Amino acid sequence: MTADTLPPANPFSAPETWDWVATGYEQHTQPMLAPFARTASQRLVLGKNDRVLDIATGPGTLSLMIARKVAQVNAIDFSKAMVDCCRAQIDKDAVGNVNAQVMDGQHLDFDDNSFDAVFSMFGLMFFPDRARGFSEAFRVLKPGGKIAVTSWAPVDRSPMMQLLFAAIGSAFPTPDPPTKPAPSLDDPTVFARELLEAGFDQIQVEPVVHDCIEIHDAQNFWDAMVAGGAPLALLRRKYDSDEWNERSKVAVQTMREVLPELPHTLTSQAFLGIGGKPKVDTIPSTA
Ligand SMILES: C[S@@+](CC[C@H](N)C(=O)[O-])C[C@H]1O[C@@H](n2cnc3c(N)ncnc32)[C@H](O)[C@@H]1O
Repeated sequence: MTADTLPPANPFSAPETWDWVATGYEQHTQPMLAPFARTASQRLVLGKNDRVLDIATGPGTLSLMIARKVAQVNAIDFSKAMVDCCRAQIDKDAVGNVNAQVMDGQHLDFDDNSFDAVFSMFGLMFFPDRARGFSEAFRVLKPGGKIAVTSWAPVDRSPMMQLLFAAIGSAFPTPDPPTKPAPSLDDPTVFARELLEAGFDQIQVEPVVHDCIEIHDAQNFWDAMVAGGAPLALLRRKYDSDEWNERSKVAVQTMREVLPELPHTLTSQAFLGIGGKPKVDTIPSTA
């Protein structure tokens, strides 16, 4: 395959995309995703002597939530702006045991068998080489340790996503039908298989639903998602201000038609994948 036949790079796999939205993400999106981090943190039994890794931490959503329950948290993200937000939050909360670092989750700079628990909340799902992401997480986890990963369920299970997609679709019609995506973690069978292929056992993939937002005003919700949501932030960069404002009006009008009665609380569904690294005496020999 030559360079010009390669599929276009996924913009969500580039740190710049997340750098652009880091501040808005922290303000508007993090509160929507925090309930999923809370559920994941409650599904793994964390001990006060544990060392925990949070892969693709963003502004530290899960790391700061669990910091006081464990001995140490390593929070990594490939976006420097996200790591800066995380560090500011660490200072604000005066938490001394969270170490935030810029690092690609596909190339973890940690020794084998270093962590008692590994999390990746809505992060690993963006890796271009997801198998590598899962195998790196497996490598750094101690035998007997646990992993918890979240990824969005299909859009038709998330009223919040449906609303956004309807608004975007009305204002920004795409000329080409979307191509079928590669196998994705929004399929629980794929999710479980990828955990298994990385070496994990005791695998469970379960749906998790949370109220994500109470919408009081369509315009405010749209503005928040443009400021803090990577898909809309990317779209915003394609248009000059006049055209963007015109199209935004259409999108907001669509939201008002879909949700005539406000306030309205919208839910989203994710899949939470859990696995364990087998204890040493149960890992099959490769010799
Ligand atoms: C939707 S945000 C989730 C952030 C946080 N985990 C949360 O739950 O709020 C996705 C994060 O994944 C990070 N990310 C994406 N690909 C990455 C990679 N290859 N290595 C490290 N971080 C990555 C992005 O920078 C972004 O902060």
